[in-house]
Amino acid sequence: MNSPWDPDRYTFRDARMRPALELLTRVPVSRADRVVDLGCGIGDVTRLLAQRWPDASVVGVDSSSTMLERAAGTPSRIEWIRADVGSWAPARPVDVLYSNAALHWVADHDGLLPKLVESLAEGGALAVQMPLSHDLPSHQVVRDVLASFGEPIPQRPVSTAEHYDALFAANEWDADVWETEYRHRLTGDDAVLEWLSGTTLRPILAALDDARRPAFLAALCERLAAAYPRRVDGTTIYPFRRLFFVVRR
Ligand SMILES: C[S@@+](CC[C@H](N)C(=O)[O-])C[C@H]1O[C@@H](n2cnc3c(N)ncnc32)[C@H](O)[C@@H]1O
Repeated sequence: MNSPWDPDRYTFRDARMRPALELLTRVPVSRADRVVDLGCGIGDVTRLLAQRWPDASVVGVDSSSTMLERAAGTPSRIEWIRADVGSWAPARPVDVLYSNAALHWVADHDGLLPKLVESLAEGGALAVQMPLSHDLPSHQVVRDVLASFGEPIPQRPVSTAEHYDALFAANEWDADVWETEYRHRLTGDDAVLEWLSGTTLRPILAALDDARRPAFLAALCERLAAAYPRRVDGTTIYPFRRLFFVVRR
């Protein structure tokens, strides 16, 4: 199957960029030779990594050729690699392994994260941000509508902060784990559906039968509009919790 990711549907850039930037400020590595952005998408954040570490070789890894083509459309010194983060491994130890809003698409964090930390150079850091969106009303609505269509229900992709804290402590790694709840102020019609259409719904819509998609989207639209009413100023507030961690080697 072709990747369901679509650069043109990955909207609300400012709101999505904010956690990426906040994570970047917490990376405690001043000098780096090798920097990798896991699940780099269209490369906006990877280019910021290249600015922050101007002497480093910088690699963006993503499984979507469509996203990588868009990334490579802006000339830079960054190397773009198509690979699945679940099976990718660097040829040499890396100083900064960074991943914004991507590892929740990759299974088995208890297996993946130790592998990533072990691929760090001495003094290096793994910096990760993932949405804690499974329990949001929007994602419950998606599951309800999927169930009413007899479609498979996605599993919880991200564990709790306590779980990751315990995993890092068990390995005696120095880790900072925190959560932030944003109140994204979205503009436009059906704003939460539009937001979800860029991310959570990509694989779901790709797997749905063409004939069922319009009815599925209509049901979703109605339920999301009720869960997230538009305010008198025309905007929609979308409370959204995110998990961050920075692990040092
Ligand atoms: C929400 S986008 C985030 C992109 C970028 N990190 C950013 O912050 O703008 C998620 C990205 O993860 C990529 N992705 C999803 N599963 C992946 C996997 N198993 N291996 C590599 N990339 C993956 C998608 O192709 C997509 O580009």
